Amino acid sequence: MNKLLEVKNLTVEYKNVNKTESATTAVKNVSFSINEGEIYALAGESGCGKSTIAKAITKLVIPKQGDILFNGKSIYNCSSREKKEYPKHVQMVFQNPYSSLNPKMKIESILKEPLDINTDLSEQEKREIIKELLFDVGLEESVLNLYPHQFSGGQRQRIAIARALILKPELLIADEPVSALDASIQAQILNLLKDLKLKRKLTILFISHDMNVIKYLADRIGVMYYGEIIEENYAGTVFRLPKEEYTKTLLNAVPKLKI
Ligand SMILES: Nc1ncnc2c1ncn2[C@@H]1O[C@H](COP(=O)(O)OP(=O)(O)O)[C@@H](O)[C@H]1O
Ligand SMILES: [Mg+2]
Repeated sequence: MNKLLEVKNLTVEYKNVNKTESATTAVKNVSFSINEGEIYALAGESGCGKSTIAKAITKLVIPKQGDILFNGKSIYNCSSREKKEYPKHVQMVFQNPYSSLNPKMKIESILKEPLDINTDLSEQEKREIIKELLFDVGLEESVLNLYPHQFSGGQRQRIAIARALILKPELLIADEPVSALDASIQAQILNLLKDLKLKRKLTILFISHDMNVIKYLADRIGVMYYGEIIEENYAGTVFRLPKEEYTKTLLNAVPKLKI
């Protein structure tokens, strides 16, 4: 199996504003890899370092130590052309789709902007890509003339997913993508991610504090605790035979939700 992403001995520190205090080590010597076509979930309570790993992979933070390989190549130690191309291969969706969509732009512009910036496609070709993508995320073409505030949370998350996928990334990072949504809508978005994984041959890094949500779609799970991955295994094994006491606590902490 081809490893699409390899995180190797990643350590990330946040310098404290008050320089007299020591820095916070948000991620400590974390290693894991994600195979092509897999949904890998990072689990763990709020503050354990999940988003920091996502930020390191998307280059929003610079690690203190370690390396990240995409398709076998370091994302730091590569050509300037590869550095420029990297964001097209790795895209992210966030917990709050409203804050990630420009409220002043119509959906059409929101979806078209990455194509305008990154491609030389004709207007007709761009329209075709947008049309196909809307279909894939379960939205009508009529949404193109509307603004983000005219949608429900679930619909907005579909739009945010569409925007993330417009340049056909191989890796999608979904950081708590359903945590702000009602339970019934959560299931719809999780189903959508499952569908998209197959339809668009996506590999997904799925981040959630909610083991119920993770159970629904993860192939493998890395359980984080205070900046470290303390347990990693196939999803079925983590749920049936958790090794660490912390993982057991995490599994018992969540109310059972039917999806
Ligand atoms: N920009 C930041 N500056 C300082 N500390 C931060 C910053 N972002 C996160 N942290 C700290 O790093 C740790 C990990 O945070 P985060 O990666 O957001 O965890 P999670 O996504 O699992 O909730 C926490 O202790 C958090 O307070
Ligand atoms: Mg987070």
